Amino acid sequence: MQFNQPAGDNLFDESRVVGMPAQRVDGPLKVTGQAPYAYERHDVAEGQVVGYPVVSTIARGRITGMRTEVARQAPGVLDIVTTLDVGEMPMPSGMNAAPLFGGAEIWHYHQAVAVVVAESFEQARAAAALVEVDYDQTEGSYDLESAWQEMREDRSDPVSRVGDFESAYDAAEVTLDAEYRTPSHSHAMMEPHATIADWQDGKLTVWTSNQMVEWSRQALATTLEMAPEDVRLDSPYIGGGFGAKLFLRADAVLAALGARKVGRPVKVMLPRPMIMNNTTHRASTIQRIRIGAQSDGRITAIAHEAISHTLPGGSGENAVAQTRRFYAGENRLIVNHLAEMHLPEANAMRAPGEAAGLMALEIAMDEMAEKLGMDPVEFRAVNDTQVDPEDPERAYSDRHFVECLRQGAEAFGWDARNTAPGATRDGEWLIGYGVAGAYRDGPAMQSGARVRLQEGGRLVVETDMTDIGTGSYTILAQTVAETMGVGIDEVEVRLGDSAYPVSAGSGGQWGAASSTAGAYAACLALREQIAGRLGVNDPEAITLADGAVNTGEKQVTLASLAEDGELVAEDSMEFGDFRDGEHVVSTFAAHFVELGVHVGTGEIRLRRMLAACDAGRILNPITARSQVIGGMVMGVGAAMMEDMAIDTARGYFPAHDLAGYEVPVHMDIPAQEVTFLDTLDPVSTPLKAKGVGELGLCGVAAAVANAVYNATGVRVRSYPMTMDKYI
Ligand code: MOS
Repeated sequence: MQFNQPAGDNLFDESRVVGMPAQRVDGPLKVTGQAPYAYERHDVAEGQVVGYPVVSTIARGRITGMRTEVARQAPGVLDIVTTLDVGEMPMPSGMNAAPLFGGAEIWHYHQAVAVVVAESFEQARAAAALVEVDYDQTEGSYDLESAWQEMREDRSDPVSRVGDFESAYDAAEVTLDAEYRTPSHSHAMMEPHATIADWQDGKLTVWTSNQMVEWSRQALATTLEMAPEDVRLDSPYIGGGFGAKLFLRADAVLAALGARKVGRPVKVMLPRPMIMNNTTHRASTIQRIRIGAQSDGRITAIAHEAISHTLPGGSGENAVAQTRRFYAGENRLIVNHLAEMHLPEANAMRAPGEAAGLMALEIAMDEMAEKLGMDPVEFRAVNDTQVDPEDPERAYSDRHFVECLRQGAEAFGWDARNTAPGATRDGEWLIGYGVAGAYRDGPAMQSGARVRLQEGGRLVVETDMTDIGTGSYTILAQTVAETMGVGIDEVEVRLGDSAYPVSAGSGGQWGAASSTAGAYAACLALREQIAGRLGVNDPEAITLADGAVNTGEKQVTLASLAEDGELVAEDSMEFGDFRDGEHVVSTFAAHFVELGVHVGTGEIRLRRMLAACDAGRILNPITARSQVIGGMVMGVGAAMMEDMAIDTARGYFPAHDLAGYEVPVHMDIPAQEVTFLDTLDPVSTPLKAKGVGELGLCGVAAAVANAVYNATGVRVRSYPMTMDKYI
């Protein structure tokens, strides 16, 4: 069905199940080890053997020869597939900047060049080390700083220009012109990329760990030159993704090719040391921000010019995204440069664009507030907008950013902040408070589902939607329970199988909003069938509650309707142009941080964090809160430790594991508080919901940076804020 006008009154205005703090329905399976992840699917594909990747040790060039004879003689080896054997394979459209496998060309360090298949993991790994590769190495480009120096003044191809930035900036009473740097980030999800592949009668099944089942089914079919119908993907449980598993990756291609060669099911995991360079990362950025304001705090001119990097054909990091829409200001200039570099493929990582962009913009806002002598909460509130500043005809569907700031400040006790930096001490600690705003799109994508009313009145919903730890199982159970008038325990949710209707998948924080809308559409189709069975023409004339249908004249149980066999209905929700054409649908938050910086050692210790979020209807406050606190943890990592440093001579990321690439641990994270405004956005979806998963990360790092400034009086404009930058 089409969602092409704002949702009026509907089932969800007086929701009973949606919006309730239901515990994760998949929780018991997870904590008892009964939710198998891709690599541990012992229940499928009998006779599994193991493939181990061989990866390139140069960043750029061509393979001139490969020697596999010694490896083939190693114990347990069944066969070896090399990139030269298979030759170039078709590239899936728009998904990967470089081939995952096939051909002699080397695009980046740790590109897969062979897979060794053996009886055991240890045998495959040992034999992989015996494969010899000859390269003809060529120069590549790996240095973002020099690319920035070349492109910094080039404004010939702006993303957007509104009014006359230069004149307005020159005329402004207070101005800021500053540069900020964010490093490359790794998704660093717990579960490595992994796939088991099995061929039966020319058809391929892969059990894998993937956020976007249909995208990857299509991509795998294209790569292997197969009909998509002959490829099945199954990805019911995922140990984290953050964007690393949006696209088909080498594990699935290697497993499929290995399995075809040896005629047995093959499983391939990308070992942790390969993930940093074989898969994708968030590109590093350099960002210049100029803001001009009147002395009353109103922004009159704002420019955001950035650069990031990508392999030829990739998309880099869109760090200017939020600056186009977040704050008011009549004169605007947005420029986004992309430097082609031969590092591994840069691609989406949680809140791609805004996460890195707000790390800069929200420090700039703090700096401006100080120059203006304004409270940083107040400065942001003064520059709120209820319309798209680039196109004032487009209104925000539902925007309560100022309430986030005010309620957050109140709950946090922001008033207690000492406005003088470096002036508050608690024993050996300098104390600082920081605030930052957060902005992230609230997209929705077409999403389908099938619902079954089964014997006993139970409901089953099937969709290829994924749960990457986010709570999809739970909110879909809640949606079906609500729409069909049953308890959440009466609903079974089946996810992640490409045999089910195509969903929006998990990405871009559209998953929750889109997939619940799709399940709702399928439930409405089922309600129509039920009404028809009962001789009622208008499906809206029936009410469903407590496992029964009431027509006004009679009441029958759902169980009795399914007595003669199950009822099945399928539909998808499509989103009309009114949603993104006439309105801006976005999510907002304000983050508050208190921390201490040790006067002797310079160590930063967070003391408390608070997020006030505006993301439409909150479908489940437990799972939503978990998303936001997880995002806050990630933001602390971005602020203080995460750094995919680049070896600019050899063209790769030396960090190869979670010791070299540091992320926060429990000891780094203080008390976290999350509040939701829980408003209804009538334009977002029929459930009036939006995503929160990426919003939770946005702005966090800048709030930490601003608190460090408040504590120490040292302004750090380069992440991560390691001690060398502020002591
Ligand atoms: Mo997200 S970076 O689209 O998983």
